[in-house]
Amino acid sequence: MSNEGNTEHIIKQRKTAKVLADAPWEASLTPIEQEELIKDLLELAACAPYHYKSASKYHTAGLDSPLPFRAYTMNSDVCRILAGKLQHMEPAPGKILNMLWAAEAVIMMTWLPDVFGAQPVEREMEPLPFTPFTGNLRNMEHIAASSAGIQNILLGATQKGFPNYWSSGGVLRQKAARQLLGVPLEEMLLGCLFIFPKDAYEKGVDIKPGKFHNDGKKVLTWSKSITL
Ligand SMILES: Cc1cc2nc3c(=O)[nH]c(=O)nc-3n(C[C@H](O)[C@H](O)[C@H](O)COP(=O)(O)O)c2cc1C
Repeated sequence: MSNEGNTEHIIKQRKTAKVLADAPWEASLTPIEQEELIKDLLELAACAPYHYKSASKYHTAGLDSPLPFRAYTMNSDVCRILAGKLQHMEPAPGKILNMLWAAEAVIMMTWLPDVFGAQPVEREMEPLPFTPFTGNLRNMEHIAASSAGIQNILLGATQKGFPNYWSSGGVLRQKAARQLLGVPLEEMLLGCLFIFPKDAYEKGVDIKPGKFHNDGKKVLTWSKSITL
């Protein structure tokens, strides 16, 4: 019997694929298919475990979930428009541009810090993690839960056959892009998840793997059985 759909197989299949298109690609999915794909992936993120609800200040009229993360999604049209705008902005987008030219979808995942003390009225950047304002166990567990949500998305994309990549975000972390996209600087960007077309590997462009993909796979180098 084939094991292609099973969880263990999908987890082992997941890998970073940074697809670097040299010009904007036509999407492989229709807008409706992209919307369904994004919705399916978000539903997987919503199944992640989480320990604490997000602070009430994040519960806005439109986005009032107790989950400790938020997702901001772009279909391929929006990715291409954003790429066009970033080309005229500072700092230069670098490889984010090539990936926005290739992506079928991008999901920007933020986590919602519990922040203490006086905060700036207008932010130039995100709160810094692990300062006295933000460094606490609750925030550690917000990040952990949000990361579990992200991993669910990557596994879902892998299972559906879409090459994918968890990026720190590069220029998409910065104020200019955040304002353009409406991703508040009070929230902390944990990952820009690029979902690429299924046939990306057949298109003959540069696809970079994760630098550390083959490292750390020997379980006994990072685990120890406890004996009492
Ligand atoms: C929180 C996080 C942020 C990451 N950001 C980047 C990034 O900005 N640039 C990059 O090349 N890879 C980034 N990666 C991907 C890692 O390089 C990749 O996961 C690692 O090399 C292992 O490869 P694999 O994903 O194929 O197993 C990130 C991964 C994580 C978990």
